[in-house]
Order: sequence, then C-alpha cells, then structure tokens
Amino acid sequence: MRKLTAAPHGLHGELAVPGDKSISHRALMLGAIAAGATTIEHWLAGEDCLHTLQALRAVGVTIERHGTTVTVQGQQGAARFNAPHAPLEMGNSGTTTRLLMGLLSGTTFTSTLMGDDSLQRRPMERVTHPLAELGVQIELSSAGTLPAQVHGGPVHGGTVQLEVASAQVKSAVLLAALNAQTPTVVVEKLPTRDHTEIMLRQFGADLTTAADQRTITLQPQPHLTGQTVVVPGDLSSAAFFLVAATIVPHSEVRLINVNLNPTRTGILRVLEQMGADITITPLPTTGEPRGDVLVRSHSLRPIQLTAPAIPAVIDELPLVALLAATAQGTSTIRGAAELRVKETDRIAVLKTELTKLGVTVTEYPDGLAITGRPEWQPQTTTLDSHGDHRIGMMLAVAALRSSTPLSLENDAAVAVSYPQFFTDLEHLRGGRA
Ligand code: S3P
Repeated sequence: MRKLTAAPHGLHGELAVPGDKSISHRALMLGAIAAGATTIEHWLAGEDCLHTLQALRAVGVTIERHGTTVTVQGQQGAARFNAPHAPLEMGNSGTTTRLLMGLLSGTTFTSTLMGDDSLQRRPMERVTHPLAELGVQIELSSAGTLPAQVHGGPVHGGTVQLEVASAQVKSAVLLAALNAQTPTVVVEKLPTRDHTEIMLRQFGADLTTAADQRTITLQPQPHLTGQTVVVPGDLSSAAFFLVAATIVPHSEVRLINVNLNPTRTGILRVLEQMGADITITPLPTTGEPRGDVLVRSHSLRPIQLTAPAIPAVIDELPLVALLAATAQGTSTIRGAAELRVKETDRIAVLKTELTKLGVTVTEYPDGLAITGRPEWQPQTTTLDSHGDHRIGMMLAVAALRSSTPLSLENDAAVAVSYPQFFTDLEHLRGGRA
C-alpha cells in the first residue's frame, strides 16, 4: 500500500520517460533472429520486457544488458534457437506471449508458455487461429488461454484476415510468416500500431503497407541484419504526466524525446479535442517519429470516442476516463470492448475506482460514459490498481488533485511498464514553478 499525495502547487519541469515498451520487445525479438549483433539503446527495463529478454535467453540467445543498453547476438533465424529446459515464463506480459507465439513457430522444438493469474485469463485464440491459417500448431487450455504449447514447424504464406484490431496479433502473424516460402498478406480490421512493420523494414525485410494502412504484404525469408535501435521514450508512459499536468492546476511540464508514431498518438488528439494546452515539437529522426511535448494545465470539455479512434489510444483509455472525470459534461468511450481483456477488465475497474472518487460512471459492454466534475467527493481513502500497472498510475495521477488523503493498494504493479514512475512523479512535484 502506498500513500498518494496531492500536488496543490502543480507539476513542473522536464522529464525523459523510459523507452517504449512495444519497441523494446520487438528490438529484442528481431535482434534474436537477425544476422550479427543488435544494440538497443534506451531499452525499457520494465518487468514485461525483462520477461521477453529471459525467454529469449532461455532458448539460447546471448543477450547482455548494462542498464538500458542491451546487446543481442543474432541467431540468423529462430530455427537456430535451442529447446528451453523449462516452461517459458511470460509474467504479466501479453505482448511477450503473443509475439513469441509467432516467433517460436519458426523453431525446431515445442515451447511451453506460462503466465501470471491475470495473463492466464486473457484470450489467446485471437493469435492461435490466424497463426493456424499459416500452418502453425499451438495448443491452449480448453478455455483458450495459457498455458500454451507452441510447436515449431513449417509455416506457409497466405492471406490472413484478422478478426480483432490488435497489433500483437498482427505482429505474431508477421513474425511467423518470415519463415514461409511464399508471401503473406495480413488484413487488419482497423490500423493498429505499426512498430513491427517499421522495425522489420529497418532490419532488411521487404514489407509493404497499402494505402488503406491495414493491408500488409511481407515477402518471406528476408535476410535480417542486426541493427542499432534507439528506442524513443514511451508515449504511453509520458501520457500519465501529460494528463497530470493538464488536470492539476498551475502545472507546466515538458516531456522530452517521446515516440510520436501516429498509430500511438491518439492521446494527443484526445487532449487537443478536449481543449488541453499542448505544444508538440517534432525532433529529427530516421526511424520512429519522436519529439517533445509541452503541456500546461487547462480546463477541459467532454469528448465522444468511437471505434475507429480506439486503437491509437487503447492503452491510454484509463487516462481518457480520468480526463473525462474532470471535464464539464458527459464524455463517452464506445467501441472499446478490448478494454475488457487487458491486464484487468479495465471497463469494470474504471467504473469501480472512479466511482470511489465520487465520479458518475455508466458501464457499457464496449465502453463507459463519465460525467466530470471539477471537485470530486471521494467515498473512500483507498484506491486499488487491481494489479494493473496502467490503472495504478492513472489513480496516482487522480490523487494529485484530490482534496482528501488517498492510498493505493497493489502499487507494485507499476513495475510492469514503468518501474521508476513514482520517482519521476516526485521529480515533477518538486519542480520549481
Ligand atoms: C501492444 C499492442 C496492444 C497494447 C499493448 C501493446 C503491442 O495490445 O494494448 O499494450 O506492443 O503490440 P493489442 O494488440 O491486444 O491491442
């Protein structure tokens, strides 16, 4: 349990947040199957990415880490991985699990993937079904969940239509399709984050994305060469401070070197639409777009979000709910049923926790309606992350503007994506006005 504190004088200063989680996972995996060494700078040393690192070591990949600099000795294909001596532990990480299902299909052995209680409840057929269309064999529990047995073996190309808008599923298919003999076309329901595509191109793959942004064609058997990957700051981590500085009066915060890939910047569009005061300064780059974001506190109007807007803000929807809780009027988030199968059922958990703060929340099967108020009336002194990192950090941000003292249960969950979150928050709380 952690005591949360308000920030009556606002948040101030500059912050470089840790590296992007999605990109950190992918850099390890592509480094592992490339030829030669890959160096990853500003890698995210959070629990989820550490599970990817450990799993790759367990299949024989040599990986050295010094803080946030990681060197991966590429094996020239998953076929050169070694069978692990024990089940591979995925912890809480859906990205590790789903991407590895694709990557490990290219091995010559069977791997078992296990996860924590939350991960063991999350749906995996969304990955195994499209992978089966390429000939990949994966066995799941009767509930369609972990543990999974991934059988390495031949993969064939083809056209795969995805039923769920999910970058994890798309990435698993692309990673498996690297080993096919013929091209693979992946058609998404809606465009999702394209880090796998960008990085595959950087490593030398021949991959094209059609003008509709949701049809991707991958040529098989590319020669992937080890690279230097400089990971930008994670916008999903920066978002906690962008929102905090917006809703806590007297704040002015600059987040430096954050990922500005448009498939991820939904939270910036939401902030702009709600009337926030943000200034974006792009930085020169050859890979993933990146830049600085300056934010000053500002009052907000409500927002209505529907399905097409969801993928680019999927991980920030708890923060959108918090923004809505301070806006004058009722906001709605719909077309977001995916929130129910994240680290927690985030729709249910958001309703529970925001209601504790005295905010009026209506739950729908695919979203929420939230009626904001400038002053909350907390019904409790204890909030709960429910073991979900993003819920925990969102609640710590909420507490910054609370007039009554609050505590957070299960605060250790933040280490999944942002181990130094509370230290960075203190840095900005202590910043000079
Ligand atoms: C991720 C994709 C998203 C996101 C997750 C990371 C990725 O999940 O929520 O935090 O790195 O590909 P889905 O693919 O399930 O939408």
